[in-house]
Amino acid sequence: MKNTIGVGLAGFGTVGAGVYANLLKNGALLEQRTGVRFEVRKIAVRDLSKARDVEAPVALFTSNPDDLLGDPGIDVVVELMGGVELPLRFVKKAIGAGKVVVTGNKALLAEHGAEIFELAAAKRVPVLYEAAVAGGIPIIKSVREAFVGNRFEAIHGILNGTSNYILSRMSDEGLDFAPVLAEAQKLGYAEADPALDVNGWDAAHKAIILASLAYGFWVDPKDVLVEGIEKITAADIGFASELGYRIKLLASIKADEGGEIEVRVVPTLIPKSHVLASVNGVFNAVAVRGDVVGDALFYGRGAGRNPTSSSVLGDLAEAASFLQSPRGSVGFTSHGLYGRCKPVAGTVSKYYLRLGVEDRPGVLAQIAGALGNAGIGILSVIQPEGQIGDAVPLVLTLHDAPLGAMQATLGKLAALPCVKTEPMLLHMESFA
Ligand code: NAP
Ligand code: HSE
Repeated sequence: MKNTIGVGLAGFGTVGAGVYANLLKNGALLEQRTGVRFEVRKIAVRDLSKARDVEAPVALFTSNPDDLLGDPGIDVVVELMGGVELPLRFVKKAIGAGKVVVTGNKALLAEHGAEIFELAAAKRVPVLYEAAVAGGIPIIKSVREAFVGNRFEAIHGILNGTSNYILSRMSDEGLDFAPVLAEAQKLGYAEADPALDVNGWDAAHKAIILASLAYGFWVDPKDVLVEGIEKITAADIGFASELGYRIKLLASIKADEGGEIEVRVVPTLIPKSHVLASVNGVFNAVAVRGDVVGDALFYGRGAGRNPTSSSVLGDLAEAASFLQSPRGSVGFTSHGLYGRCKPVAGTVSKYYLRLGVEDRPGVLAQIAGALGNAGIGILSVIQPEGQIGDAVPLVLTLHDAPLGAMQATLGKLAALPCVKTEPMLLHMESFA
């Protein structure tokens, strides 16, 4: 039995330094609860001369992450460097060296999960990743362990703290996109490359991990519909509100009875009465529907130093328990019940459609005609006050339609002479 677990931190930025600080703060408590002491024995950073807001002994620092792998006193490596190429090489070498891996790197797992877990299973070395999805919310352990006896009918989530922070502040305070993004960066919520937050891919990486874990096969990122929040305007937020909805970057993961699954991460209109509509700021939430448990909801901070460190500390405790008594799961188990994603064009949704049109009689009939010809039914129409250049806004909500048919019709609508602006199409979710 080991009384002390040697930890190597690869990365000492927002999260890595937070893990170190919280190990100092709560290390004694962790020791009481787990029976082991966690000792940080090396820390890898890119720039040894950088001023740091958390202090650690200079002797622990190295600029070569491989030093952690060559140290026999290190049992667990915590990968918190970000990026994909270097972490992939590092994690594979760590598994090869028999070191338990903890990571918060969702891009790494979404792109290379299959390869990493194949190696982990072959070497019987766990790879733990609670911090990779939804910050401080323990959704990975819940899906993997607490709900192991369920088939997952659907998982819906607000999975990116930065974009939720931006959308909430745009909706509630009428603020502009750029300054709110800068604030989210300052608060440590955004990725090193914040494009991943606003273009939807950070949330998509998390949705891919959740879907893969829930359905037992690694979802190919190419099979996921991803759109970001960059295109959302204050006008759309206002029109959606008039209709009784809030716009959220929503991850929707669903399985059908034929065993196909669909995963999409797109700005989505959510009824104001639904609990996910009230998840604001940096908070994330995940709504799980299992065939045994029914509906379950998880809520908490989705980004930032301390919430994310909390998930890493949980994984360190799990790593210690594995090191004391090696057992079955290495963090991901594949199974053959599912295995295919539905083609994106065939996925069905209700839609919000905003057009800028000429203000004259007969325009609505032309638009209804184009939709009718494609078999797409109209749920509601509003013509809100206002002007878009020399056009007026026309907002429609549409019945369920396959995305492929909807996109083809969008092209036809855009080509109508009475339609003056690029149509804006957003998904709507009713959680039926
Ligand atoms: P960060 O603040 O940018 O920190 C990255 C750390 O890695 C820095 O200490 C950096 O060194 C070090 N590093 C980068 N490249 C390196 C290299 N080639 N060799 C050695 N060290 C290197 O990033 P973060 O926000 O902590 O995020 C880290 C990981 O956690 C990412 O995968 C991110 O997606 C994930 N994550 C972040 C959050 C969050 O809220 N921030 C939440 C969940 C998951 P220097 O300090 O010298 O630059
Ligand atoms: N940039 C991510 C977010 C960090 O804003 O959600 C947490 O994964």
